[in-house]
Amino acid sequence: MGKDVIVACDFASAEAVYGFLDRFTGEKKPFVKIGMELYYAEGPQIVRQIKARGHRIFLDLKLHDIPNTVKKAMAVLSGLDVDIVNLHAAGTTAMMEAALEGITRPDGTRPLLIAVTQLTSTDQQSMERDLLIHEPIDQVVLHYAETAKNAGLDGVVCSPLEAGKVHARCGAGFLTVTPGVRFADGDRGDQKRVMTPAEAKKAGSDYIVVGRPITAAADPVAAYERCIAEFVD
Ligand code: C5P
Repeated sequence: MGKDVIVACDFASAEAVYGFLDRFTGEKKPFVKIGMELYYAEGPQIVRQIKARGHRIFLDLKLHDIPNTVKKAMAVLSGLDVDIVNLHAAGTTAMMEAALEGITRPDGTRPLLIAVTQLTSTDQQSMERDLLIHEPIDQVVLHYAETAKNAGLDGVVCSPLEAGKVHARCGAGFLTVTPGVRFADGDRGDQKRVMTPAEAKKAGSDYIVVGRPITAAADPVAAYERCIAEFVD
């Protein structure tokens, strides 16, 4: 898979997400991220329906539990025919290896499996105070990325600011999927460390995840096409 823009469909209902997706009448169907909100509201059926409309899907459920539970949950998700699924690297190597086993279908095929390292909402202070992790946060992110790679995973979710370092440590083929993207003239919202699509391309991101700059735009299709023009073309 080459570089692409993944649209974070953070909507609370099927009605809302279809109202949004119906605007995209062009040949290229956006790659869509389905997160906890929409999945918990509508269940696996929403994934099947969006897939049936021809979209590629990143199912962002961030699994984190004991290895056996994650393996069995991943085996269920493997039946949904999504393109990317994820988990928390903090679940450790045993959980990531179990997840990989679970997500692999009997015929050997599987979605890409990527890891969340440290959430971008976690900063040095909260990591030290609440998690008792005292290394610099960028080193922690790189270590988690390396652990994910060694467990056999395909990549990580990280800030575009970290994409270059992750590739340097884990190889160019290890995917970096990066939220925190804003247009140069756009509203940052609650994202603190941001890059434009063009900067994320230069930084080496493989996929950018873009939510509100597209979903809340007056013209979402134009905003999506602007992302494609800056990041892919
Ligand atoms: O609207 P916005 O472009 O900020 O959306 C970014 C998407 O990426 C949201 O779905 C958010 O939950 C997700 N995300 C993030 N930072 C992470 C992991 C996921 O912003 N570290």
